Amino acid sequence: MTSMPDRSRTVLLLNGPNLNLLGTRDPAQYGTTTLEEVERRVTDLGGELGVRVVCAQSNSEGEMVDRIHGARGWAGVVLNPGAYAHYSIALRDAIEAVEVPVVEVHISNVYARERFRHTSVTAPVAAGYVAGCGVFGYELALRAVLRRDAEREEVSDGTRAG
Ligand code: DQA
Repeated sequence: MTSMPDRSRTVLLLNGPNLNLLGTRDPAQYGTTTLEEVERRVTDLGGELGVRVVCAQSNSEGEMVDRIHGARGWAGVVLNPGAYAHYSIALRDAIEAVEVPVVEVHISNVYARERFRHTSVTAPVAAGYVAGCGVFGYELALRAVLRRDAEREEVSDGTRAG
C-alpha cells in the first residue's frame, strides 16, 4: 500500500517565466546554476528539514495561478514569479487567496536594476521576500516558509515556541 504524502509537510517550489533558462540566461544577473540544480538543492534541504518539495516551472501566468491554488493546505510556497512579480494582479490575488505562507525570491538584486523591477505587486501579500542573494536565496526562502508555517501553527494551537 502506498502512503499519501502529508500535504501539511509539503512545500511548492514554483519558478515563473524564463527561469527554465537558468544557467545560460544572463549569467551576470542570474549566475550559471541551472534550474535543475536549484531544484535539487532545495529538495535536498527539504529532506534535511523534514518536508517534501514539489518543483514546478511555468512560463504561463494562468498555470502559475493554478499551481498556487493547488498548494492550498500545504506548508507553503517558495515563489520566484519572474517578471510577473512586477505586474500580475492575478498572481497577487492567488497568493492572498490560498492563505499559506508564500516567500518571494528574486535571484538578482532587482533594486540595483531597471526601475520597472523595483515594483512588486506580489510582495505585499507574501510572507517574506528575498532578493539579491543569488540562487542561495531559494534555500533561505525555504527556511523562511517553514518558520512562517510553524508560527501559524503556534497561533492556531494557542502555543508559542521559544
Ligand atoms: C527575477 C527578476 C525579474 O525582474 C526578472 O524578470 C526575472 C528574474 C530574479 O530572479 O532576479 O525573470 O525574478
